[in-house]
Amino acid sequence: MPKILVIDDNIDNLITVNAVLKSLMPNSKISTSISGKEGIEKIRRDEPDVILLDIQMPEMDGFEVCKIIKSDEKIRHIPIILITASQSSSQDRANGLKLGADAFISKPIDEVELIAQIKVALRIKKSEDLLRNEKNILEDKVREKTEHLRKSYDKLMVLFDGIINTLVAVVEARDPYTAGHQQNVNKLAVAIANELNLEGKVVESIHIASILHDIGKIYIPTEILSKPGMLTDIEFEMLKKHPEFGYEILKNINFELPIAEIVHQHHEKIDGSGYPRKLKGDDIYIEAKILSVADVVEAIMSHRPYRASLGVNVALNEIVENRGILYDAKVVDACVKIVRGNNIFEKK
Ligand SMILES: [Fe+2]
Repeated sequence: MPKILVIDDNIDNLITVNAVLKSLMPNSKISTSISGKEGIEKIRRDEPDVILLDIQMPEMDGFEVCKIIKSDEKIRHIPIILITASQSSSQDRANGLKLGADAFISKPIDEVELIAQIKVALRIKKSEDLLRNEKNILEDKVREKTEHLRKSYDKLMVLFDGIINTLVAVVEARDPYTAGHQQNVNKLAVAIANELNLEGKVVESIHIASILHDIGKIYIPTEILSKPGMLTDIEFEMLKKHPEFGYEILKNINFELPIAEIVHQHHEKIDGSGYPRKLKGDDIYIEAKILSVADVVEAIMSHRPYRASLGVNVALNEIVENRGILYDAKVVDACVKIVRGNNIFEKK
């Protein structure tokens, strides 16, 4: 049953319009208000389907009421038919239109025209209500799906971190002397990437690749990994295969980041003297250049079974002396700045 509200300060007009509507639209619910202020209260409370609004009223006129209704998000969709005086100027109608009125009817009110205007307004409102409902349902569905996706993504991330940590633990279990090495390299490499203001994806790649960079050592015999003395040439050649093994392990994981390739390149040097592919300069990813510097600095500063830590100065001398030769100059500068300025390697 459509709800129609008539707002008019003239009680005789209210009675007349009420009677007309009751006889010609018996299936509607009619209510009336004698002032703009009372009308707005009723609109907010009852949310009618159409409003018949007299323009000329004391205190708050029809324009003011129209303005208030159209600026209120909750009720602005309700159509307003403005009742204008017979001598009303086109300026009145223009003002009403500007304020959001939907239709006009002049006094004295023609019954047929009034009903026709109301029916059109009701039909438009019904269509708009349907559209708005559909939109709300769609928005709810999108919100629900987004939330579901976010939860699934969070779960996957937890799972992903768990798998990465397990892989790291497997390598470290077989190579206890470098336990913690990958985590330390990770800290330094990410700090260098941030110092160089690299974009988020690059930092993310460095983060993952640095944690996993020695994963290929899984295939290196434990006797080589845990040998307390210097390695023979054959043993060293075997050890040098770990970037390739790492690449083989990671290449089929869809990281959407070049993790396998960075791991493959982490022992390459910019002059082509690295391994396994002797890549040079720009053929080496920036992520791998950073990882290579962080790796060598951390290795020199770490305690090994066959030697104590060589200390920060030896580590920094190694990269500074080979700045622009083995190691990327900008990466070296960033690394020196970080190591000199922070206690990034302070052990607990
Ligand atoms: Fe390595």
